[in-house]
Amino acid sequence: MKIAVCSDHGGFELKTRLIPFIEELGHEVTDFGCYSDKSVDYPDYAFPMAEAVAAGGYDRGIAVCGTGIGVSICCNKVRGIRCALCGDVLSAELTRKHNDSNVLAMGGRIIGVETAKAITKVWLDTAFDGGRHEGRINKIANYEK
Ligand code: RB5
Repeated sequence: MKIAVCSDHGGFELKTRLIPFIEELGHEVTDFGCYSDKSVDYPDYAFPMAEAVAAGGYDRGIAVCGTGIGVSICCNKVRGIRCALCGDVLSAELTRKHNDSNVLAMGGRIIGVETAKAITKVWLDTAFDGGRHEGRINKIANYEK
């Protein structure tokens, strides 16, 4: 898959560790910044990344800030984005099965690298269940219109 990633300074180190991991899983990664641990504003990176995913240029997005909360708020304001902030593997699996989340948010100051890798792998590998969940996703899309 084509995966867009972004972070602010609080998520920069975790994002830097995740990019080669995602590539090793066989995905193509585009980094929307930031590109150092110098202090920046997370909306400046989360909005362009989420818009690129919503526009169809990427299959999924992964956003990291200090807590994951700021980037997840931004991403969920972009029409067509269903961003899930995950700190555990079960949530990552269930948000793919139930919410068809197309952006994963994580907190670089909250979870460790190994947990983040496990979350990322299951989130990338898990398909949407469809069925009863399809109608719920459609209600979100209708609300956005
Ligand atoms: C930056 O200090 C921090 O506020 C940011 O990374 C994020 O945690 C915001 O939600």
